[in-house]
Amino acid sequence: MNITLIGFMAAGKSTLANNFAQDTGYRLISVDQEIEKERGMTISQIFDELGEDQFRKIEREILIKILQDDNQIIDCGGGVAQYNADLIKNLSYVIYVYADFDIIWKRLEGDNSRPLAKKLSKEELINLYLVRDKIYRKLANEIIINN
Ligand code: S3P
Repeated sequence: MNITLIGFMAAGKSTLANNFAQDTGYRLISVDQEIEKERGMTISQIFDELGEDQFRKIEREILIKILQDDNQIIDCGGGVAQYNADLIKNLSYVIYVYADFDIIWKRLEGDNSRPLAKKLSKEELINLYLVRDKIYRKLANEIIINN
């Protein structure tokens, strides 16, 4: 079985994914890290130089590859569930790592590594958070509150 961790930026997916991998002995795999390895570029560079649409294409290709293997804890970037709901739902057990927006906002303050957090205003981020929260909830087999 594959277990995907979905949720908004800075919800704490990577930390929990790490813990789950240690507890279960499953292989830990990060979609973002696989993208960076395959392209030899950071996520920020991909957004800056190729644009978000291209990033989403690469993200989907990598996700398809990852899901061909089994027994993995898959740490997904915040947009993976929004753009690949079909794949996630059909091919994994889904855990939504939830945190309140105020907490996410504090964690994101001064974060320069996340292109969307840098680019979007607070209002735009809230809107994205609300849109995605609905998607994450629909997909989730389980929700973990990580405030
Ligand atoms: C994104 C979240 C990031 C990364 C990319 C896009 C998003 O991952 O995949 O910057 O669309 O929310 P984290 O959720 O780990 O920050």
